[in-house]
Amino acid sequence: MEILFINIKELIQVRTEDRSFVSGAEMQNLPTLRNAFLLVREGRIVDFGEMKDCPDITIANIVNATGKMILPAWCDSHSHLVYAGNREGEFIDRINGMSYEEIANKGGGILNSAKKLQEISEEELYKQSKVRLKEVMQMGTGALEIKSGYGLTREAELKMLKVIKRLKVNFPIEIKATFLAAHAIPEAYKTDKAAFLKLMAEEVMPIIAKEKLADYVDVFCEKGYFSVEDTAYILAAGQKHGLKSKIHVNQFNAIGGVQAGVKFNALSVDHLEVMRKEDIQALKNTSTMPVALPGCSYFLGIPYTPGREIIEAGLPLALASDYNPGSAPSGNMNFVVATACIKMKLTPEEAINAATINGAYAMGLEKEVGSITKGKMANLILTKEINSYGVLPYSFGTNNIDKVYLKGKEV
Ligand code: NIG
Ligand code: FE
Repeated sequence: MEILFINIKELIQVRTEDRSFVSGAEMQNLPTLRNAFLLVREGRIVDFGEMKDCPDITIANIVNATGKMILPAWCDSHSHLVYAGNREGEFIDRINGMSYEEIANKGGGILNSAKKLQEISEEELYKQSKVRLKEVMQMGTGALEIKSGYGLTREAELKMLKVIKRLKVNFPIEIKATFLAAHAIPEAYKTDKAAFLKLMAEEVMPIIAKEKLADYVDVFCEKGYFSVEDTAYILAAGQKHGLKSKIHVNQFNAIGGVQAGVKFNALSVDHLEVMRKEDIQALKNTSTMPVALPGCSYFLGIPYTPGREIIEAGLPLALASDYNPGSAPSGNMNFVVATACIKMKLTPEEAINAATINGAYAMGLEKEVGSITKGKMANLILTKEINSYGVLPYSFGTNNIDKVYLKGKEV
């Protein structure tokens, strides 16, 4: 199957050089080509350039993109898209004045989702998750990380990871799976957290590694959840089983989790709403990607990750949705990009880099997706007719997408 896109008003995020991610001031640079063509063959980008150099070939599938733009599909490196039911009841509680913490303390929050997850069948979980996956694909997401962590028992964690695997097999979107080994302390282990961690590290993780059910390991490093020491214990176990880490840190409190992540050579450290100077410093000259989740800040009303400070310190930054039932019930990356501009004061160039090439890096997919580069997957967003790419974050809430192509096929 071949597709030739012609008369593209602007082809965005064109990279010919081999870049894994962009950081600091270079995030302001979003390379584009005006009046361009793009040739896709067998699901990959095989050629692109200016219209004057468009190959004169006979091809059945020609898409005239006059007035429209093409950019790489979004790379969403942090989600909990596989979950059971929802937490709309807690949403109402929060509207009526309860805090996220108060809800969690009375057995709501993650434990509420875990209960639902433990009760649901694998088939029903797959059915519910599939609906959300199709929805995010239609909204332009072409690569997605999905975490377990609402299981909290051996069976339920495996159930989640099996569902992620089925989604991966059955849909054209690129998926990476993360074993979120320590998300909350289940009721049964309330007085023996160490036993829960041991169960996850010594019983569950070996099965997951053997059956290749996960690419990464994760911990919610936070006061009242898991300490830096607990985090190190799980990350060390992950290392032993070949699972690189991607961790939840500094969401409500800075307790040294960023440093632990760096020490274990984490692929990413995510959330970072509360950042001390030393936390930013710790990320310098490392291969760990800081990931901001503005949808979570928006929904919970907590501070936004200081993206400007992070970028101005010369660091890279990625943006992800955190799609989950409790703190960010939306997987819409268009909204995430807009919110990063509106609330975190990222420029459109920085936000688009953060949600494409840097997001790809944060899930180990930088060779496959995240830019318009020959050989990469043809995961593309074709916009409606727009004046400039700045309109994408500017007109927040508006659907500017005409079509989405994943691995060269329209979804
Ligand atoms: O990334 N912070 C921890 N975990 C999820 C939300 C958990 C929930 O409320 O269900 C997050 O925000
Ligand atoms: Fe999360």
